[in-house]
Amino acid sequence: MTANILELSGISRSYSTRQGLFGKRVPVRAVDDVSLSLQEGQTLALVGESGSGKSTTGRIALGLERPNSGHVLFRGSELPPADTPAWRRMRAQMQMIYQDPLAALDRRLPILDQTREPLDIHDVGPASERNDKALAMLDAVGLNAGHAASLPSQLSGGQRQRAVLARALIMKPSLLVCDEPVSALDVSIQAQVVNLLMDLQRDLQLSLLFISHDLKVVRQVSQRMAVMYLGRIVEYGETRLLLSNSVHPYTRALISAVPVAGRRTRERIILTGEPPNPAARPAGCAFHPRCPIARSECANVSPAFTTLPDGRSVACHAVDGHPPIEEVGV
Ligand SMILES: Nc1ncnc2c1ncn2[C@@H]1O[C@H](COP(=O)(O)OP(=O)(O)O)[C@@H](O)[C@H]1O
Ligand SMILES: [Mg+2]
Repeated sequence: MTANILELSGISRSYSTRQGLFGKRVPVRAVDDVSLSLQEGQTLALVGESGSGKSTTGRIALGLERPNSGHVLFRGSELPPADTPAWRRMRAQMQMIYQDPLAALDRRLPILDQTREPLDIHDVGPASERNDKALAMLDAVGLNAGHAASLPSQLSGGQRQRAVLARALIMKPSLLVCDEPVSALDVSIQAQVVNLLMDLQRDLQLSLLFISHDLKVVRQVSQRMAVMYLGRIVEYGETRLLLSNSVHPYTRALISAVPVAGRRTRERIILTGEPPNPAARPAGCAFHPRCPIARSECANVSPAFTTLPDGRSVACHAVDGHPPIEEVGV
């Protein structure tokens, strides 16, 4: 069996946020008892509506945020305290790609300089070779010498995200957390960047934690996926299984919302009720107010995980009477 590069066990993270401009502060459980693992060289997708705790989980995985409880293991070792030399050494192995490439780039610095910068900061190799290394990395992400001399504002959105990738990969990390990496790009460009990411993953043996709400992309890039709702995982297993035979009613609703040629709109499950509000999390199963198959216990008792014979975990009281069904899928 392949080793895990990343393991999160029982991670929880709360914030206190103000309700309204002058409202009182209320605790928000952004991530609640999340356990996940990612195998070396593979991709684990995290999906769920906005506010479900995906980004917080990604930041915790990189040690950019400390959990209130739980453990993060990178190649079997606990992340050292932030900003220590041991943490910096481990952090050089992990990089994050955000949705907005412009925010990740320095507007005043040519792309070549930004790509080379991590080598300068960490004093990697002879200084005279760093420009060549940066140019080679830019070439690997599909940017040429002309792009290298440009400022971020002179590039298109897709080219900027390629530049972000070059900078993230120049230190040869082994783990990349991608937080909605193509959501801000034109649809026509998204596929190119996703394909590039997959090529780079293969060539550089990268492991990816891939946060996305686009299930078509998730199907293309990931071997396993976890569906989050209000800070908790509700279904977790092989992407192929979840997208063709989802069990949790929330996963079903997400899949159903994806337009598929040939499927009539009225066959879709429409998510009803209030969108999830982390500051007013319903008791019992947090999804029960919107759930088409909720029963009385769902309002009172939080469902435990059940592991099905196909290896997936599902947190749903109705799972026994609700076996996987063949769906149109994504
Ligand atoms: N730094 C923070 N301070 C206060 N609340 C936060 C902070 N980060 C995240 N949250 C809250 O935690 C919840 C989950 O956020 P997030 O992890 O960004 O979800 P997602 O990425 O799935 O949209 C949200 O309600 C968000 O407002
Ligand atoms: Mg997010």
